[in-house]
Amino acid sequence: MTALEDFNITKAEQSKLNEISLENIPFGKYFTDHMLEADYENGEWKTPRILPYQPLQLDPSLAALHYGQAIFEGIKAYKDAAGNPQIFRPYDNFRRFNISAERMQMPTVPEEIFMDGLRLLIDMERNWIPAHENHSLYIRPFMFSTDEAIGVRPSHKYKFLIILSPTGPYYATPMRIYVEEKYTRAVEGGYGFAKAAGNYGGSLLASAEANKKGYDQVLWMDAFEHKYVQECGTMNVFFIIGKTAITPGLESGTILDGVTRDSTIVLLKEMGYQVEERDLSIDEIMNAYKAGSLNEIFGTGTAATISLIKELKYKDYVMKFDVQKWNIAPEVKRRMDAIKYGLEQDTYGWLYKI
Ligand code: COI
Repeated sequence: MTALEDFNITKAEQSKLNEISLENIPFGKYFTDHMLEADYENGEWKTPRILPYQPLQLDPSLAALHYGQAIFEGIKAYKDAAGNPQIFRPYDNFRRFNISAERMQMPTVPEEIFMDGLRLLIDMERNWIPAHENHSLYIRPFMFSTDEAIGVRPSHKYKFLIILSPTGPYYATPMRIYVEEKYTRAVEGGYGFAKAAGNYGGSLLASAEANKKGYDQVLWMDAFEHKYVQECGTMNVFFIIGKTAITPGLESGTILDGVTRDSTIVLLKEMGYQVEERDLSIDEIMNAYKAGSLNEIFGTGTAATISLIKELKYKDYVMKFDVQKWNIAPEVKRRMDAIKYGLEQDTYGWLYKI
C-alpha cells in the first residue's frame, strides 16, 4: 500500500461543492475539487500528485491528439447505508485499464498509483458522493501519450489522470434502438475489447444518424455480415429468450469485457436463469420475437447501469415491447443497486470500502 507521503498532495483553497446540488445531476458535467495526475517519463512513473481540479497545458504537437493513444475507464463510488464511501469492483477496471494500455502500446499503470491514488482521492472527495437513488460519483481514470512530436510511433511519455464527476442516471427512460448495418464498431484483430478513445469517436456518426431517424442508439453488429450482435451503443447487451439470457461472448475480442456485464451474469445465474455467452444473430432474435419468446432486451454498462430497450428496428421490421411487464432486468438492477448502496449483503466481495 502506498503511504500518503508517496503522493504529492495540494489541497484546493475552497470547495466548489456548495455551488451545485447533488440531486438530478446530468452525466459528466460537474467535477470535484481535486484530481490525480501522474507522468511517465524515461521508462518510469514519477511521483503522483493530487491537486486542485484544473486545466492541462498541452503542446499542440502532443502525440495523443494526432494518433489517438488514449484510453480510459469508468467506475462508480457510492455511499453505503451509514454514509461511508464504497467503490464497485474497481480492481476489475484497474485490470482492464492495463489490458487496454497493452493493446495501445502504452505503459501499464502500477496498482500503487491507480488503486492507492483512487482510494486517497475518493477519501478526500467523500462529500461529493451523492446519496440519492440512481446517483453516484463517476470515476474517470484515463491516460494519453504526451510526446511532443508528430512521428507515428508509440510515445515515450504519458500522462495518467483520475477525475471525478457526481452524476445522475445516464439514460433516464427505456431506449429505442436501431440495428446498424452500415457502420461497424469493431472487427476481430482490432481493439473493440479495449476502452480506447477511438472506439467512441468512431461510433458517433452511427449514433447521430440513428438519432436523426428517431432512435436513441445503435445495436452494433459484426463487421463481416452485419448479422451477429456485438454491443448496444456504449453498453454490453442481453437478450432474454424464453428462460435463457444470451449475451455475446468475449472470444472474438470485439466487445468490452464489461464489469456490469459480468455482475449481471452472476446475478442472473443466482436468480435461476441460464446464461449463454455466445454468438446471437439478428435472425434468431427476430424468430424469437415472432414466436413470442423474446421477453426482454437490455444494455449494461457502468455509466448506464441496466438500461431497458423498448424498441428494436431491423431494416423495416420493428420489434416493440411493453417494458412495464418486465421483471428480470428490473430485478437484476434492484439487486445490483441494493449491493452498491449497501442495502443488501455484498456476498461476492464486489465493494471496495474506503
Ligand atoms: C461507461 O459505462 O463507463 C462508459 O464508458 C460509457 C460512456 C460514458 C463512455
